[in-house]
Amino acid sequence: MLRWLKWLALAFALFIALVALIFWYIYDVSDRAIEQRPAPAQRTIEFPDEATHESRLERGAHLYQTRGCVDCHGVHGEGTVVIGEWPMGKLVATNLTSARSAYTSDTDWSRAVRQGIAPDGRKLLFMPSHEYTRTTDADLSAIVAYIVSLPVTDSDLPPMSIGPLARVLWWLGAFNLIPADTIDHSYVAASSIAAGPSTTYGNYLLDGCTGCHGTGLSGGPIPGAPPDWPTATNLTMHETGLADWTFNDFVRAMREGRRPDGSPISKVMPWPSLGKMHDWELRAIWSALAAAPPRPSGQR
Ligand code: HEC
Ligand code: HEC
Repeated sequence: MLRWLKWLALAFALFIALVALIFWYIYDVSDRAIEQRPAPAQRTIEFPDEATHESRLERGAHLYQTRGCVDCHGVHGEGTVVIGEWPMGKLVATNLTSARSAYTSDTDWSRAVRQGIAPDGRKLLFMPSHEYTRTTDADLSAIVAYIVSLPVTDSDLPPMSIGPLARVLWWLGAFNLIPADTIDHSYVAASSIAAGPSTTYGNYLLDGCTGCHGTGLSGGPIPGAPPDWPTATNLTMHETGLADWTFNDFVRAMREGRRPDGSPISKVMPWPSLGKMHDWELRAIWSALAAAPPRPSGQR
């Protein structure tokens, strides 16, 4: 009996040592991936200067509110703790009104937002730059004009800390912790795109939905999400998706957070901000969804 217990204790100690070793390994590779500096070669970006300052500010405010920035960086650009629970760690969106002093050129802004690299060469963590790679120069310049116009707001944010679950999910390829490593840095975004209720424009807008609803738009569990977040739904025209919905149903879901049967949609789905899109922007998304291949739910 004693002997048996001894073996059990030994097996348990070995198991703990193995788990510790695996975690040590994952911490080491993730730290190295985070620290590793990307190649410095960058195109010089200069934003177009056609729009008046006022129209650019107005458009920038609209884009800031409807393209996700507001959901993580806050109404006043003050930053927020986006995910704050162990074991994911603390994923903190920067206070943009203080960070902006490090930005000295359009190139700096372009690298941060579209390529996920801060002016000092640091790779931005969890900032979904991979969804913003296609942002046109005209749109980015409007967003930047708006960010620069915001009054400096103090905020008391904790430092970013990357917990074990975030690292393990990253290591398994299930969580985009370091978007800069997944972005094609040679991609050149268009300088502008014809804005209107077209499928092309809708596809451009859908980039901002893929982080949660998946690149195939069929939904499924959101990678790295806290356990109390609902699963992202299927946005394709499959019977398990929006096949039975009308455009008006879609508008109501986006603006009022209600499904056709009247049931409420969780605010994990950022409808309060996304619902501020203009009618024609929602029309564009709807036409892109109608053109997307229908897929069964949960294949992301
Ligand atoms: C899902 C949340 C999320 C969304 C949406 C988001 N950000 Fe971020 N952003 C972050 C996080 C987290 C960081 C901090 C990254 C770091 O410090 O490693 C960040 C960092 C940044 C930085 C770099 C600041 C610095 O330290 O130099 C800029 C610039 C920025 N975001 C702009 C934007 C803009 C513009 C948008 C909208 C087009 C946007 N972000 C949308 C989460 C988000
Ligand atoms: C931060 C994650 C996130 C983003 C970004 C996001 N969604 Fe969602 N969305 C969700 C979740 C989670 C649900 C399910 C909510 C629930 O079950 O209450 C949802 C539900 C929906 C629904 C309701 C569908 C149904 O069958 O109930 C629609 C419509 C929708 N999203 C459209 C969009 C569109 C369009 C975009 C981009 C412009 C978008 N979402 C961006 C997370 C997100």
